[in-house]
Amino acid sequence: MSRCSDRIRRALLSVLVVGGISALSGQVAAQTRTASPPAPKPWDQVGRTATPAEIKAWDIDVRADFKGLPAGSGSVEKGQEVWDGKCLSCHGTFGESTEVFAPIIGGTTKEDIKTGRVANLTRADYPQRTTMMKVSQISTLWDYINRAMPWNAPKSLKTDEVYAVLAFMLNLAEVVPEDFILSNENIAKVQERLPNRNGMVVYTAMWEVSGKPDVQGSDCMKNCAADTEVRSQLPDHARDSHGNLAEQNRVVGPVRGVDTTRPPAKDPAGLAMAATAKAAVEPVRVAKGAAEKPAAQIAKDATCLACHAVDRKLVGPSFKEVAAKYRGDAKAPEALAARVRNGGQGVWGSVPMPPNTQLSAEDLRSVVKWILGGAQ
Ligand code: HEC
Ligand code: HEC
Repeated sequence: MSRCSDRIRRALLSVLVVGGISALSGQVAAQTRTASPPAPKPWDQVGRTATPAEIKAWDIDVRADFKGLPAGSGSVEKGQEVWDGKCLSCHGTFGESTEVFAPIIGGTTKEDIKTGRVANLTRADYPQRTTMMKVSQISTLWDYINRAMPWNAPKSLKTDEVYAVLAFMLNLAEVVPEDFILSNENIAKVQERLPNRNGMVVYTAMWEVSGKPDVQGSDCMKNCAADTEVRSQLPDHARDSHGNLAEQNRVVGPVRGVDTTRPPAKDPAGLAMAATAKAAVEPVRVAKGAAEKPAAQIAKDATCLACHAVDRKLVGPSFKEVAAKYRGDAKAPEALAARVRNGGQGVWGSVPMPPNTQLSAEDLRSVVKWILGGAQ
């Protein structure tokens, strides 16, 4: 075998630990075949069966009946440390979350803990849904935090830290007292106090044909429209049909719904994310007579200001700090435009900036130029 294909084979072996990857039946597999006597299947030599230890490392799900939950424990007090260090920057001091992230805590009452059904969820006039209002299984929270949070470093929490931070969140929602220690032994008891534990909805078919879910789809394949239009925007007449979103949204944290009583996009001043949003900006300067949207407005519309302020650090650095750091750096406009477009991490700390793909190249250039100029 040539050195080259040998190298490819070794690379494949180190990547593909699970056997039977049939997609690799093409050229690459053909190259590996020359190694030993006739192989019954082209992929036999690619990969190997995963070891029990490898499967165990992947198999981390926690079921509603707590199968899969590792033993451990954590106090509310310890949980507050974890929260303040690793969660607060995105989810807020009390779980109310910053403007960009959905709120986690809020909207539940002592009465809900008794009934197991969050009353606010059944109220048509209650706009907000927090995680604690909706979740019906405590195992879901444990599992989700364990596998996915913190967002910028998933799976980095120790088992006891997951218990602790969950205990802290449950204390914020007044489900457990301040001196509580959550553990694998008492978690089932806490489930019995979860505010929306009786709120689980069992899936029903969207529509039925002769008493069965319509999964054959025969009806959809007849009389199809010749043209279909896919829209991502509400037609103007529907914009305000559910009332003003800015007034309904986020009773727990800062508002982020648009003011639907105003027309979209046409009037730059009215385009503000929400009239009531307490975006941390100085008054937006609208350049008189300028045809383009002012950079400050672009930053506001693109929700940059949910994480950045002009002269103080929020989730991300202040625009003034950014300007100071890159002063005199000729490559900065281009480098930062790419950074904003693709997201980044590590220059200012461990909290990442998510990608911002919503901006046109032109708006991106203009907003970065504005930032580098000190965001004035
Ligand atoms: C860098 C920002 C960031 C940090 C730090 C962070 N989160 Fe999150 N969190 C998110 C985002 C974004 C989502 C939504 C993810 C999604 O929907 O895919 C989320 C979702 C959640 C949810 C689920 C909310 C729901 O209703 O679906 C929980 C619970 C949660 N985070 C807990 C935590 C905990 C506990 C920590 C700290 C250990 C933490 N997060 C740290 C950004 C963050
Ligand atoms: C969800 C929060 C969030 C949003 C939304 C956000 N940023 Fe950021 N931004 C951050 C964080 C956190 C950092 C620091 C990242 C790092 O340490 O590398 C950052 C860094 C930056 C930097 C400096 C990058 C560097 O490499 O020095 C610029 C410039 C910037 N953001 C501009 C923007 C603009 C423009 C927008 C809107 C289009 C925006 N950000 C939206 C959180 C955010």
